[in-house]
Amino acid sequence: MAVLQTKGVHPSLAVIIVGDDPASRIYVNNKKKACEYIGIRSEEYALPGNTTQEELLTLIETLNESNIDGILCQLPLPSHLDEKAVINAIRPDKDVDAFHPVNVGKIMIGDYDFLPCTPAGVMELIKESGISIVGKECVVIGRSNIVGKPMSMLLLHAHGTVTICHSKTRDLAETVRQADIVVAAVGVPELITGDMIKEGAVVIDVGMNRLPNGKLVGDVAFDAAIEKASAITPVPGGVGPMTIAMLMKNTVKASLLHQELK
Ligand code: GUN
Repeated sequence: MAVLQTKGVHPSLAVIIVGDDPASRIYVNNKKKACEYIGIRSEEYALPGNTTQEELLTLIETLNESNIDGILCQLPLPSHLDEKAVINAIRPDKDVDAFHPVNVGKIMIGDYDFLPCTPAGVMELIKESGISIVGKECVVIGRSNIVGKPMSMLLLHAHGTVTICHSKTRDLAETVRQADIVVAAVGVPELITGDMIKEGAVVIDVGMNRLPNGKLVGDVAFDAAIEKASAITPVPGGVGPMTIAMLMKNTVKASLLHQELK
């Protein structure tokens, strides 16, 4: 960051949080801490739970016009707010989550400025572990706009053979059993059991599920899956920190883009 700063690049991030969802509060705090750690200036906009759509859109409009580099609105929003309209309101060149349809479309054609943080973090983990994706059977469980769909696209761009599973998939166990690389992003505690993992498979767990007893578990039954997997990520401490690292990367990228535009 010091090198960038000597070149006049001072990345900045606005983080919006609406209401008092405890999980969102933890995520936002972690994002702010990471900014502080690497030298990104962060501004928090903590709005009350009864904020109106108009008030939220007015704030985003102000930030769009300001000199802030990145804008992130923590999801989920309270149910009276229209998430889609909020995502659409963030200027694509400040959309460090890569949720705006313009950025989603750019990812689809493989010509993007920003990658969504969680799928990008998963790709970094795979690549930094020296694991090749080319020609591999990749099974993604979950089809959300935030993780499942972009994750599948990134694995495809990396020349994997990609299957997306979801709640209507006929035989989940049999499909997952074919996988060389499994990415679980479905939000069901320990849905992926040890018997579904092929010997030597790479297992990436994006799930973050709080059990009634307070324990945090992923979408994969870790203790059984580790017996089969050649590489596996834990929950917590696996994908989560990578997501935040990719947010930092996107914010620096946004700042560099804005610098070029000056
Ligand atoms: N809620 C859960 N994950 C995310 C994320 O990556 N970005 C935002 N903005 N909200 C989230």
